[in-house]
Amino acid sequence: MSTGNHRQHHKIEELPDPNGPETSSSPPPTSSKRKWSNFLPIFVGLVVIGEIAFLGRLDMVKNADLVNSWAESFYQFTRTSPKRSTESWVDESGSGSEESGIQSHQDTCQAWLEREDYVPYSRDFRKEPILVHGAPEEWKTCAVRCKFGHESGKKPDAAFGLPQQPGTAAVLRSMESATYYSENNIENARRKGYDIVMTTSLSSDVPVGYFSWAEYDIMAPVQPKKENALAAAFISNCGARNFRLQALVGLENANIKIDSYGGCHRNRDGKVDKVETLRRYKFSLAFENSNEEDYVTEKFFQSLVAGSVPVVIGAPNIQDFAPSPGSLLHIKDAKEIDSIAQSMKHLGENPSAYNETLRWKYEGPSDSFKALVDMAAVHSSCRLCIYLATKIQERDETRPEFRKRPCKCTSGLKTIYHVYVRERGRFEMESIFLRSDNLTLNALSSAVLAKFSSLKHVPIWKSERPESIRGGDDLKIYRIYPVGKTERQALYTFKFKGDSDFKNHVERNPCAKLEVIFV
Ligand SMILES: *[C@@H]1O[C@H](CO)[C@@H](O)[C@H](O)[C@H]1NC(C)=O
Ligand SMILES: *[C@@H]1O[C@H](CO)[C@@H](O)[C@H](O)[C@H]1NC(C)=O
Repeated sequence: MSTGNHRQHHKIEELPDPNGPETSSSPPPTSSKRKWSNFLPIFVGLVVIGEIAFLGRLDMVKNADLVNSWAESFYQFTRTSPKRSTESWVDESGSGSEESGIQSHQDTCQAWLEREDYVPYSRDFRKEPILVHGAPEEWKTCAVRCKFGHESGKKPDAAFGLPQQPGTAAVLRSMESATYYSENNIENARRKGYDIVMTTSLSSDVPVGYFSWAEYDIMAPVQPKKENALAAAFISNCGARNFRLQALVGLENANIKIDSYGGCHRNRDGKVDKVETLRRYKFSLAFENSNEEDYVTEKFFQSLVAGSVPVVIGAPNIQDFAPSPGSLLHIKDAKEIDSIAQSMKHLGENPSAYNETLRWKYEGPSDSFKALVDMAAVHSSCRLCIYLATKIQERDETRPEFRKRPCKCTSGLKTIYHVYVRERGRFEMESIFLRSDNLTLNALSSAVLAKFSSLKHVPIWKSERPESIRGGDDLKIYRIYPVGKTERQALYTFKFKGDSDFKNHVERNPCAKLEVIFV
């Protein structure tokens, strides 16, 4: 497996920005913490007792024969649960007008839920950060504490490669296509024993893309197209495992003038700055070496930077990566070479039609494109740690203390549901309350906007995105989905199928955890 490519990208891809999103906007403390600060002495006491118990068990665990899978070890034991009030919720709203009665019912219920649903997790990541065996990496911040490196005597939560000792997740990380590195296929990787797959596939556990706002100046202005030739090509491997050579020949035969700077059909000196060169051409032949879902490399993103319309051979779902509809040409198979040649000629001869394909450069890309590239505002290594920490907490949530959480309270015909929401790329959850008489997707959106606005929440991508497309201070929701969905599902394929589907989800998943993507 070649990781050289990855490292190289990595360096630029997700360099910690000294003014990074989180330095200016560390996640606000959860409201429950603030509200319950009055109980802090008791709380601290419980934590200390809990921790002593925890450390005691740790020793026992250390000596025990650990044969559990990674997520199960360490945290599966039950811990002395803190004393909890056993009385159930009582409506104290009493007299008063009906409206104020409802309001106070709601307030009491919410306060009660915040208290009762709060169960401490067995591991405090601030004291015991996620540990990943691997070359030390540095970020200014990550939403969960996270260390890459080696600590003697400490079992890491995860490590790269196979095999790993029980209790340590085996991670595969590669930016190569599965066509050339078959173990990068997610099913193959799982079969081989990898617990966590990090590839360009948006269906992998923690995707590593070639794209980011930091690495590519995607909104760079369009330059005049001064070249005589219609398209530029930088293709170095003529023997790729797809039809890209056939397409190059086909376009040439259709009288498309192509300046070729790569090793393949070279007719220009290749020692040039690629992006600077592309800026002068109307089209850029972004031909990948394999046609694989989500495998979209710098060939494509450099074309976007240059404002040279990409003519793509590669990912069958390349339209998911388009900055706006109609902003690229896709040669899906060899039969389409001629018709794409005709489209190129037509656009080449019609300045206003051509300019239309670059409209996104002037007016900004689609929300869908922003939401995709924003993913990379959080370093993939940090996303790995968030993924691990989330799994560790999910393990906790199967314990009786968590299962006993009420997660809702009912008075008369009305029920109030407690759900948790966090922004993608962050770790801490915020409490959201929804009423049974309005358990709808609209009410969820309003409640999320109200909550995050009241916290003066700053989206995690804020300082990463080019200034021209950062937007104002108002929050806008792009997607809300259950925690644990893949990026592919979150961005493209998952949606609650209407209000009843959402209602079912909340009723079937007490204290449901959701994630929101703001654009
Ligand atoms: C292309 O369109 C933008 C507005 O969408 C305009 O500002 C620009 O001048 C146009 N360029 C050309 C070459 O027509
Ligand atoms: C339900 O919630 C939506 C969004 O918050 C709100 O506009 C609507 O008025 C609410 N309906 C009822 C019956 O409370």
